[in-house]
Amino acid sequence: MSVRRLPRIIRDPPSNLSSRMSSVAAQPRPHEASSLNLADIQRLSAEDRAAVDTLIRARLSSDVVLINQIAEHIIAAGGKRLRPLLLLLAARALGYDGRDHHQLAAVVEFIHTATLLHDDVVDESDLRRGRDTANALWGNAPSVLVGDFLYSRSFQLMVELERAEVMRILADTTNAIAEGEVLQLLHINNPDTDEAAYLRVIERKTAVLFAAATRLGAVLADADEATCDAMADYGLQLGYAFQIADDVLDYTADAEALGKNLGDDLAEGKATLPLIHALAHSDDATKTELRRIVQNGDTDAMPTVLAAIERCGSIDYARQRAATYADRAEAALSVVPDGDYRNALIGLARYAIDRQF
Ligand code: IPE
Ligand code: IPE
Ligand code: MG
Ligand code: MG
Repeated sequence: MSVRRLPRIIRDPPSNLSSRMSSVAAQPRPHEASSLNLADIQRLSAEDRAAVDTLIRARLSSDVVLINQIAEHIIAAGGKRLRPLLLLLAARALGYDGRDHHQLAAVVEFIHTATLLHDDVVDESDLRRGRDTANALWGNAPSVLVGDFLYSRSFQLMVELERAEVMRILADTTNAIAEGEVLQLLHINNPDTDEAAYLRVIERKTAVLFAAATRLGAVLADADEATCDAMADYGLQLGYAFQIADDVLDYTADAEALGKNLGDDLAEGKATLPLIHALAHSDDATKTELRRIVQNGDTDAMPTVLAAIERCGSIDYARQRAATYADRAEAALSVVPDGDYRNALIGLARYAIDRQF
């Protein structure tokens, strides 16, 4: 397993934010007196999360050994389990008192995990959740096929709930994710990808699943349509913020803490927000050079890209854009009754952009 690091040119200066989740949110911003930090959110949701974990493990199995090996490999590595957490909190924030939220939370995590198996094949990534990726260990074909297994297993779990609205939301969502991934493919090695095109891609590949998670929480709680829409909007805005933060981390993170290689996006010729910003704000000579780098997916040119990003303030710009989406997510929560669960949702909007991995 090789962890790819980048030159330290634009890596964050050492900060008192540790890379562990529990301390990431221990630094509340002044205007967030009512937001919970991650440790509090984890305490608040401990029972629900444990129930989801049990369900995930129980419903993962197959009598095909390779499926168990690969699914276990990626699921046992953990991950942040942010999408199921959002579903649980959204349901609770709106007063849900049943048990179906556990099953639906497992459904969204299975869908997410399926997309990761596929994504690592497409992106040719070899590190995920601090481990060699399934494609690095077993090859592309098994990864794609086990991704399909997880997708279809998620639909088996979903139909057990026998709610047409739930099925509609998840069918639409998985379809949109597939569109997002293909749309992204069309932009690979394209230096003309602008911010609007980038936003269209991340809406579908990432934000819609966050929106589905939070909408499903509201649907389970039998919330009225306006509240369901507001909850979905919260998830959508948070999803944008989360993906922009992910794309910043691909340039700035500590690879070990991130559990993924840095520079993956450039390596595959994917222009994400920091690079899109630098492309738009560089002098002509640099622009020409950056365009060539994107066209060729040239990782050796990383120092050139980092220097341009640094000169243009592109990391700060992207972080500000992510913060704007997090603010919009928070604003969407105005329909949610005050209380710990609402504060937890506010806290997660902050976490999405403050996280170190
Ligand atoms: C990774 O998602 C894919 C993106 C949308 C950036 P996460 O960062 O939530 O992955 P895990 O589940 O925690 O590993
Ligand atoms: C997220 O995009 C892909 C999915 C929605 C599956 P990335 O390609 O940036 O995700 P990572 O960085 O590999 O986790
Ligand atoms: Mg990827
Ligand atoms: Mg990424």
